[in-house]
Amino acid sequence: MILNIKYLGHSCFLIESKGFKLLFDPFIKGNPIAQEVDIKTLNPDYIFITHGHGDHIGDTIEIAKLSGAKIISSYEVCNWLSSNDFEMFGLNIGGKIKLDFGFVKMVAANHSSSMPDGTYGANPGGFVIWNDELSFYISGDTSLIWDMKLIPLTVPQLDFAILCIGDLFTMGFEDAALAAEFIQCKNIIGCHFDTFAPIRINHQNAIDYFHSKNLKLILPKINQIINTFS
Ligand code: NI
Ligand code: MN
Repeated sequence: MILNIKYLGHSCFLIESKGFKLLFDPFIKGNPIAQEVDIKTLNPDYIFITHGHGDHIGDTIEIAKLSGAKIISSYEVCNWLSSNDFEMFGLNIGGKIKLDFGFVKMVAANHSSSMPDGTYGANPGGFVIWNDELSFYISGDTSLIWDMKLIPLTVPQLDFAILCIGDLFTMGFEDAALAAEFIQCKNIIGCHFDTFAPIRINHQNAIDYFHSKNLKLILPKINQIINTFS
């Protein structure tokens, strides 16, 4: 497993695999604690958007225009972006597509989704991405759901997962630890924490709780690169 995962704050990650740069939920300019991140340097090949909320759509339009990145999201989120000249792949829950970097499957999330202008934003989702190098799950914003148990039954064994952990709007750390058990994955990266005061978390409590369940939790710092879980 070759890992190259860069955290860019909130739910935004830049993950490189097989020579492709995959960017997730690029909420950067509006993120008060990510001001050192320069969106011009990201240059992704693909931008994945889990749902329509502003803290996930974020700077998608600007980054896609700068980079020519293709966009992967729900069908309705792609429709909302369709006045732009982007190449897009609109999925719905349970669907998968094979692209040049590997497979992507959109999986269930339990949350809400409206676009920044109030347009209907379709069901929110998560993504599982895999190729012959790695397999991972990114939850998007969600509660703990039984559907997570379907993931290990339907995709290659996960090397790691990115789970929301900030509570209030999404899972908190106790539910995220149960999610790790549901998806049968010990290597977890937390996201959707600390961005704003209401989702600030006690890092040591969360890390210790995961440790007590024989799970590994990384709570990355902005611009931190993760290339191992050992
Ligand atoms: Ni949301
Ligand atoms: Mn959110």
